[in-house]
Amino acid sequence: MPDAATDDLKQLETDGLAELRACADEAALRAWNTKYFGDKGLMKGALSAIGKIAKDQRAAYGQEANRVKVALESAYTAALAEAKEKALQASLTANPLDVTLPGRIRPRGRLHPATQILRQVYAVFADLGFQVYRTREVETDEMNFEFLNMPAHHPARDMWDTFFTTTPGVILRTHTSPGQIHVMREVRPKPIRVILPGMCYRNEAISTRSEIQFHQVEGLAVGEGITMADLKGTITAFARRMFGPDRQVRIRSSYFPFTEPSIEVDIDWPKDDPNRDRLTKGTGWLEIMGAGMVHPNVLRAGGYDPATVTGFAFGMGPQRMLMLKHAIDDIRLFWQNDLRFLRQF
Ligand code: DAH
Repeated sequence: MPDAATDDLKQLETDGLAELRACADEAALRAWNTKYFGDKGLMKGALSAIGKIAKDQRAAYGQEANRVKVALESAYTAALAEAKEKALQASLTANPLDVTLPGRIRPRGRLHPATQILRQVYAVFADLGFQVYRTREVETDEMNFEFLNMPAHHPARDMWDTFFTTTPGVILRTHTSPGQIHVMREVRPKPIRVILPGMCYRNEAISTRSEIQFHQVEGLAVGEGITMADLKGTITAFARRMFGPDRQVRIRSSYFPFTEPSIEVDIDWPKDDPNRDRLTKGTGWLEIMGAGMVHPNVLRAGGYDPATVTGFAFGMGPQRMLMLKHAIDDIRLFWQNDLRFLRQF
């Protein structure tokens, strides 16, 4: 059978293999592949040339053409794999990578301790049936004082050193108590059981125990037949959940214009803390909230008739509670954003 056509096939194979061996990298190999196996490639040409072969030699030509095609194809596949492996090895030696090294740990954010304690407070009061209600930080003088039974020039206003705005009658709230009026006016029907968390501002000297801005969580319950016993029960249940069974709760009588009678609630400072005396002024107790039975004038300002409903209210300081929980000796740490402090929570 040897004739010109088959010789051409053999030549194609020899040339192809030689050129393949000369390819230095993957790009050269791919170019080779286009030259031989592309749409207008040499192999395609050789295969379609079968039409010009004499009939009796076509079968032999076809077989030979197929053999060459398979031989070139498998040589190409092997060369390509080898080139890829070579490139991989080269890059591994150029940029050595130690896969046994430990990974880089991504720094994780965390919740600010103030957010954490607020969420704990919400959780305890949610279990006691209280909803969270938010009101504004910029208040009117009327809301912050007047409707809370402190008319202009009332001496008790001195208890809250106020930040005023340039708009007459508009101030930064000194406590969350004005929220009581908002809730009573906005939430119907009774009974009301809410807590009102938020930031408060006081124009005071900054010390280890007081900041000019701090959170409070106000509480308000209004309905028929609510008594001081309900207030005491609520506060005690809250303190037990918050501080555990080993800490003591002390309730003292006090004065606030918006409650009658009024009380204050203290928790005992951890006994083994060396800063105990300094932080509790030698008493061993730290106040965490004021509370009392809502004054009739406040109920009236909220649109309720004190002859038919009563209520209790409280206002607590979550920052104070955090200090008590963790024996933190300086309230100023909360807003300094010192990571060494914040990372401990
Ligand atoms: N608003 C008071 C304060 O800032 C705390 C307070 C006392 C809130 C008695 C109350 C309350 O709701 O009944 O010091």
